[in-house]
Amino acid sequence: MGPIMRLRELLRDNIPPELLSKVPSSFDVIGSREGAVAIVEIPPELQDYRVAIAKAIVKIHKNVKAVYEKKSGRTGVYRLREYKLLVGDRITEIIHKEHGIRLKLDFTKVYFSPREATERQRIARQVKPGEFIMVMFAGIGPYALAIAKKQPGVKRVVAIEINPIAYKYMVENIKLNKLEGKIIPVLGDVRVKATRWYGLCDRVIMPLPKGAYLFLDQAFKCLKPEGGVIHFYHWASEDNLFEEAYRLLERVSILHGYSIRILDARIVSPYAPRIYKVCMDVMVYPNGFT
Ligand SMILES: C[S@@+](CC[C@H](N)C(=O)[O-])C[C@H]1O[C@@H](n2cnc3c(N)ncnc32)[C@H](O)[C@@H]1O
Repeated sequence: MGPIMRLRELLRDNIPPELLSKVPSSFDVIGSREGAVAIVEIPPELQDYRVAIAKAIVKIHKNVKAVYEKKSGRTGVYRLREYKLLVGDRITEIIHKEHGIRLKLDFTKVYFSPREATERQRIARQVKPGEFIMVMFAGIGPYALAIAKKQPGVKRVVAIEINPIAYKYMVENIKLNKLEGKIIPVLGDVRVKATRWYGLCDRVIMPLPKGAYLFLDQAFKCLKPEGGVIHFYHWASEDNLFEEAYRLLERVSILHGYSIRILDARIVSPYAPRIYKVCMDVMVYPNGFT
């Protein structure tokens, strides 16, 4: 039986049958076998049963020491949300393990999503030895670390983050994973800090679906004159998943004297009803070299 079926099974005696199907079909677990927290979204009709749901999650996941409920959507420049502790100890700082990488973070003070591990690996797999990489909007460093770990031949990964707490964790995570020297953590606004790497990068990663398009000029300026690859994240409606992302990329590429070719375009995750986070990978060429 899968964990969600088990969750519903465990709750059979606590929740009226007509509401059982509303029990969340997934929740996030941040941490490792040694200790983790679970973060769950509970629909309004199940609010009276939220502690019972949290207790059932702890029963299924023995490593979960605390269950928090999401109390808001992500807001602000740092992309943070509100949480409420439902059961367990008030732990908010945790070491999360994914693909052999250790990531220390306080999920109430920084952005982090364990669901994006596969996406990070997809990007990391594409990196070739000798590449110079720019990760904009780097958070606690999961993209930069995934790349440096998967591709030890990478030349440098510059990782820019504006939230000082996320930056502090990124610095710590680089040490935890013994990747000092490979990753250059930078605290500040991409618009200000990226200037130092103009013309130097083979690949630019832009994991800020809310507004990455406003920084596309910076991404094109960071690429080497001979071009490179941009991984562009965007929110898109289900009726038109990739057209807007393509148009935004194309418009800025023309302004900078480049052409683009789509390498890949995919849905990364659902964001809201009928809205998805998408990623478009494009190869960027100077005009005349396509
Ligand atoms: C969606 S989160 C992604 C974080 C990280 N890449 C990850 O996957 O966990 C976007 C991050 O961009 C940062 N950010 C927002 N605007 C920024 C800017 N202008 N310059 C640098 N970082 C920025 C936020 O603080 C946040 O940590």
